Parts: sequence; C-alpha cells; structure tokens
Amino acid sequence: MARRRMVYEGKAKILYEGPEPGTLIQYFKDDATAGNGAKKDVVEGKGVLNNRISEHVMTGLNAIGVPTHFIRRLNMREQLVRAVEMIPLEIVVRNVAAGSLSTRLGIEEGTPLPRPIIEFYLKDDALGDPMVTEEHIIAFNWAAQQDIDDIISLALRVNDFMSGMMMGVGIRLIDFKIEIGRHWEGDFHRLVVADEISPDSCRLWDAKSGDKLDKDVFRRDLGSIADTYSEVAQRLGIMPRPG
Ligand code: C5P
Repeated sequence: MARRRMVYEGKAKILYEGPEPGTLIQYFKDDATAGNGAKKDVVEGKGVLNNRISEHVMTGLNAIGVPTHFIRRLNMREQLVRAVEMIPLEIVVRNVAAGSLSTRLGIEEGTPLPRPIIEFYLKDDALGDPMVTEEHIIAFNWAAQQDIDDIISLALRVNDFMSGMMMGVGIRLIDFKIEIGRHWEGDFHRLVVADEISPDSCRLWDAKSGDKLDKDVFRRDLGSIADTYSEVAQRLGIMPRPG
C-alpha cells in the first residue's frame, strides 16, 4: 500500500493528503505540550478524545451555519477536513479572566469580564506566538480589514454556541482559541473555522465546583488529563461512562 503523503506536522496533530483533491486527513496525536513545547508528555488516549470532542463541536457549528473545515470523522484518530489556506493567527475569545490575561493585567483568575474580549496572536513558535493588534494584522498583510471583521463575527458565534453547549452539561466556557482558514472556491474564498476545538484549546471549568476540565490540568500538574478529557466527553454524551 502506498504511504500517505504528510503535508504538515504540528505539536498535537499531523495533516496528510486527503483522498480527494481539496481534502486533508487530520490525525490527532497523543502528544501533550505546554509553554510552546517547554513541557512535553505523551498522554495515552488524548488524541482519540480530542478527535471525538472536536468532531462534536465542529458538527454542531456546521449545523447552525458556522462554516468549518470539518467534513467527517474517519476513525478513532482521524478526520477528513477541507484543505484551507490558514490565516497565521490564533484568535482567543475570553469570557472570564484567566491565564495570560490574568498574568499580564493582574486581574484575578475567575473574574467575569463585562463582555467577551477577543485577542489576536501571531502563529509563530520561534517568537512564542506574540499578541498582535488589528493594526499589525493589516500592516503586515496577514489578513484584510474585511477578514478581521468576519473573523470577529465568527469567533463570537463560536463563543455563543459553545458557551450554551457547555453550560448545558454543567461546564463554564472561560476562554478558547480558534484558528481560521480561507476556503477557496474559484476566485472567491470564505472563512471557515479550522484546526481543532477541544479541551487542549479551551478553558472549561465545572460550573459548580470550579474544577478545571482542560489543558490547565496538564500545564499546572493538577491531575490526569486523560481522565479530565474523558469527563468532558462523557458529559457531552460522546462517550459512555464506564461501568
Ligand atoms: O494562555 P492564554 O490565557 O492566552 O490562553 C487563552 C486560551 O487560548 C486558552 O483556552 C488556551 O488553552 C488557548 N490557547 C491555545 N493555544 C495557544 C495559546 C492559547 O489553545 N497557543
């Protein structure tokens, strides 16, 4: 059997050439990294959980008319996605102060924000993904003003949808990161949510206890992320509870 051509390897995922033109296969690894690769581990089963959770979120987004790159899940670790031209930005939406916002501005973690705050970071490992403003994005041509307006609107729709989905299973969506790609159809493109949406890229707190149900468990050595991500998958009804 011919080996598939690898198109890109990131810290947690690999992209392979897809079966049809314009498609890719996104493979979820078990590797966990934090602090731009400073902390590393292999967490057995994490790739399977993130594949399922991201499928669940992206399917829901597609269903409410928020376009994503997701086509369908292929197996435990792989999903078929549309090939898109990635915009080199990470878009963070915050509902509650936590993480780098708390550190940078001295706002206590857990402080609700008066409105969702959107931040842009340049995707550049060598520079440690620095925060950038709309001025930088336009000046350096990473995206046009219209793209930025569309990205903000997509990010807020993802926030509304995911906040509701999570609140329905007793989880507060504190913040999350998305990545956006341009899906070209002839001379035109539309922006679609790409990459993954999983506990690796969100902060999820139990609505009652405030317990962390996300990658902070790994970043801050708070316990097992396989158990934590399984809890999220079970609450979302994606995976059965054991026993
Ligand atoms: O670290 P910070 O507070 O800026 O992270 C905000 C949100 O973005 C968190 O949910 C975090 O998991 C996510 N994030 C990410 N990938 C990065 C940086 C942040 O998924 N490279």
